[in-house]
Amino acid sequence: MTTANKLYYGNNLEVLRNYIKDETIDLCYIDPPFNSKRNYNMIYNNIGKEDRAQSQAFVDTWEWDNAAMQGYEELLNPENKLYPLQTRILIEGLQKILGKGSLFAYIVHITLRVAEIHRVLKKTGSFYLHCDPTASHYLKLVLDAIFCPQGGEYRNEIVWCYTGPGSPNMRQFNRKHDTIFWYSKGDNWTFNKERILMPYKDGKPHAGGFIEKNGGRLDPEDYQKGKVPETWWTDIAIVARSVKERLGYPTQKPEKLLERIINASSNEGDTVLDAYCSCGTTVSVAQKLNRRWIGIDITFQSISLILKRLENTHGKEVVKNTELNGVPKDLESAKALALKADDKTRKEFEKWSILTYSNNRAYINEKKGADGGIDGRAFIYESEKVTKQVIISVKSGHVNVAHVRDLCHVVDREGAVGGILITLENPSKPMMQEAKEAGTYTNPLTGQIMDKISIVTVDEMIKGSRMILPTSPVEVVKSAQKNVNDTQTGIEF
Ligand SMILES: C[S@@+](CC[C@H](N)C(=O)[O-])C[C@H]1O[C@@H](n2cnc3c(N)ncnc32)[C@H](O)[C@@H]1O
Repeated sequence: MTTANKLYYGNNLEVLRNYIKDETIDLCYIDPPFNSKRNYNMIYNNIGKEDRAQSQAFVDTWEWDNAAMQGYEELLNPENKLYPLQTRILIEGLQKILGKGSLFAYIVHITLRVAEIHRVLKKTGSFYLHCDPTASHYLKLVLDAIFCPQGGEYRNEIVWCYTGPGSPNMRQFNRKHDTIFWYSKGDNWTFNKERILMPYKDGKPHAGGFIEKNGGRLDPEDYQKGKVPETWWTDIAIVARSVKERLGYPTQKPEKLLERIINASSNEGDTVLDAYCSCGTTVSVAQKLNRRWIGIDITFQSISLILKRLENTHGKEVVKNTELNGVPKDLESAKALALKADDKTRKEFEKWSILTYSNNRAYINEKKGADGGIDGRAFIYESEKVTKQVIISVKSGHVNVAHVRDLCHVVDREGAVGGILITLENPSKPMMQEAKEAGTYTNPLTGQIMDKISIVTVDEMIKGSRMILPTSPVEVVKSAQKNVNDTQTGIEF
């Protein structure tokens, strides 16, 4: 039986709890937000106005809010067998030291997820947590408190070193490394050292038949085979601006990094999980290395980016064979998405509507000041060099004729050639009438005539209605490179 790879659009805690069964995962790698106290933007392909071509990708600011409070209570509940006694004691202790603030909210968030990840790992499974020195010292305590009392073990702390500019005016050393903790769930774990050996760079043959190296002697055969990499990795560069692999997603991790981890700690046909998968580095590398995979992300931008990355890199079949969960497929689930109001999923309904209706050809607008009423922008061509805007406005609540008038006003104010109102509620007759009275626009390049103001319901969109405009053939999300060696379309097990 071929089991599909799975991509979940949703909160990883809910997905882990409701959909991922006990002891089904061979390897889990996560690269959660680092508690950097920043919000990260995604950079789009430049079509039309360059300075607008980005939008918020994810939020890395933490508050002691309802979710944190509820999570904290769950962690302290002695009835809940998911959390070993040591975890409860640790969490109580950390609360006393850190207080109930931003850092502790972040630790509660991660602890809840790591406990679930521990549950879903097979007994032979491995867990890699990628973080940085902001919170790594606390996170290691959390990992110890979850894994070690249950027979697991700390295996390595990998220091991934990279370089970058360091201003001569800095008053401290230039922070240029991340930390990756590796834990095994039991005392039997996968480590395919032969897949990750590195060549020795130094060493010279000695008359005694061995290789003389700085710091020791080696058998020539061992020297030929190469060495198991040290726990500090300096041979993998960050995904810099000029690198082809780059997709414009902030915090994108290099494929080489994931290749080393997946090769070392899993085998072909194994299942790899990334519960914070953003632009999909883990799942794309897992696909390339013939692993099965599960990816989870809370933002629709990530999900659409991953689908595009998979299609570009591995072909359409791979996307067809991917089970996509959590993306609204009917009006009810679209309404549920619109009702999500917490900080991290705020605007998800708008983002999903715009990217879906435009087939990834419109930008999400991060509203700033005078941008009120504009949720997205599409750029259409009037000639090879001239682009014009179409404004997109999304409404999840009650709509009336004033919304159509407002959109007409914004279209005129912005010098745009048209406006699209995407609405969850059905438009009234006066709304349709007002839209019709706004007239039409004729594209000089294609001769296409379109209503200046069009109204689309979410229901129509779910049934397949899409924006048909002379937009760029290029999607706003950047293309990934094709994986030339890839022949895999699904894994048998
Ligand atoms: C630092 S990025 C991961 C980068 C990734 N390793 C890569 O190479 O592309 C963190 C991701 O976690 C996602 N995220 C944050 N909280 C989440 C949650 N509760 N559930 C699922 N995904 C979440 C964010 O949307 C973001 O895409």
